[in-house]
Amino acid sequence: MKYMADEACNRTGQTGYPTLFCTGQLPERCQGSRASSFYLPGRFSRVPESLERKMMVLGGSASIDLAGKVAKTLNAKHGELEIKRFPDGEKYVRILDDVKDQNIVVVQSLYRNPDEYIMELLLLVDALRDLGASSITGVVPYLAYARQDARFKPGEAVSSLTIAKLFETVGMTSFMTVDTHLHRLEDVSKVFHIPAHNLSAMPLLGKYAQENLNPKKPVVVGPDEEAEPWAAMVAKELDAEHTVFHKKRVSSTKVEIDTGDVEFEGRDVVFADDIISTGGTIAESARACTKKGAKRIFALCTHPVLAEGALERMKNAGVRSVVGTDTIPSNVSKVTVAPVIAEGIRKTNGN
Ligand code: R5P
Repeated sequence: MKYMADEACNRTGQTGYPTLFCTGQLPERCQGSRASSFYLPGRFSRVPESLERKMMVLGGSASIDLAGKVAKTLNAKHGELEIKRFPDGEKYVRILDDVKDQNIVVVQSLYRNPDEYIMELLLLVDALRDLGASSITGVVPYLAYARQDARFKPGEAVSSLTIAKLFETVGMTSFMTVDTHLHRLEDVSKVFHIPAHNLSAMPLLGKYAQENLNPKKPVVVGPDEEAEPWAAMVAKELDAEHTVFHKKRVSSTKVEIDTGDVEFEGRDVVFADDIISTGGTIAESARACTKKGAKRIFALCTHPVLAEGALERMKNAGVRSVVGTDTIPSNVSKVTVAPVIAEGIRKTNGN
């Protein structure tokens, strides 16, 4: 059985853009059921001829290095862009390669200056469409605005939906991100009408921890319930047990961490979380582990946002080392997500 991915809701058919074809099962978005939070390998298989044409990877100014690594891993061309700023602050974007009839992957992570990087990405994708690209896969490793995925107070903008609409409107034909945290919607395929996948860097972070941190009698900890899938993926790499902590509000000003029944005495702890921002969550959780006799404490995260003072805060709480990825380039970005993205592209394009 063959049918178009997202056939019922996909706009690519209307714009003449190629559409991914699936075999075996309808995309869950179209079934009206909850999609899985992480991309399932083998969900798409190769069909459209247009996807067999040459692929080119472009990197916006937030992700030039990462785009280069993705291109190298895919053995694809790393296309050239000219990006500059006019005196009034506007961005200028020019694509220096011929993109007609090519499958283009655009990598742009939305960290630190997300609004500027979003505008660049919109200009780029719209130009790619005008210039006749066959398909445009937007790879946004750190998806800013994802957390505002509901209207909590009357009148609020639901930013994650706005971002998705913008990307689709300018002509993205598929979308990928890494370990994005949609608290209520669960999965990016609930936000986009085009095929959208949430990849995970956790297996690579787990592998890094195994090879470089060498934790003894490790226990992998998700600092809250939502971090369970990440802790599970890291634990698998370390062949270790995993658990999640629960926050208990004991008064209006005091929160306690319930570490559960797992034994920490004499064991190394490896935290796994999507984002480390202020470092407060990890610091608080690390103290709870130390109280229970944990030995060394490490923290792994996909997106090292690292607000000012975050590393210091965690160090003071006994965290020996913090390891992140290059979705947000930083001093702790020891792991590149390039292989994860390349694998995601290969699988969705059937290469
Ligand atoms: C929360 O839901 C996230 O998964 C992270 O735990 C959170 O963003 C970490 O923030 P911070 O480092 O500021 O505690």
